[in-house]
Amino acid sequence: MNKSDFLALLNDLASLVHEHFETEENILREHGYPQLKAHQAEHDALRGRLTDLLYEAIYDRFDTNGLPQLARDLVLNHVRDCDLAFKGFVAGGSV
Ligand SMILES: [Fe+2]
Repeated sequence: MNKSDFLALLNDLASLVHEHFETEENILREHGYPQLKAHQAEHDALRGRLTDLLYEAIYDRFDTNGLPQLARDLVLNHVRDCDLAFKGFVAGGSV
C-alpha cells in the first residue's frame, strides 16, 4: 500500500470513529446518562490519539505500533469497559 492509500484509509477510519463517538454521545445525552462528561473525555483522548497517528503518517513519523495499540484500546478496552457500562442504563436500567 502506498502512502496516499494509507492516509486515505486512516482518514476514513478517523471519520468513522468520530461519527460513531458523536452518535453515541448524542444517544447518551438524550438519555441523560450521568457519566456523559467522563465518557466524552474517554472519546476525546481516543480522538486525539487517532489525530496524532494521522499527523505522524502525514509527516512520515508513523509508529507502526500506534495503530494496533489504539485499535486494542478502542475496541477491547473502551467498548468492553466503558460502552458496556451504559448498555443497561440506555435500555432502561441504571448505571
Ligand atoms: Fe464510547
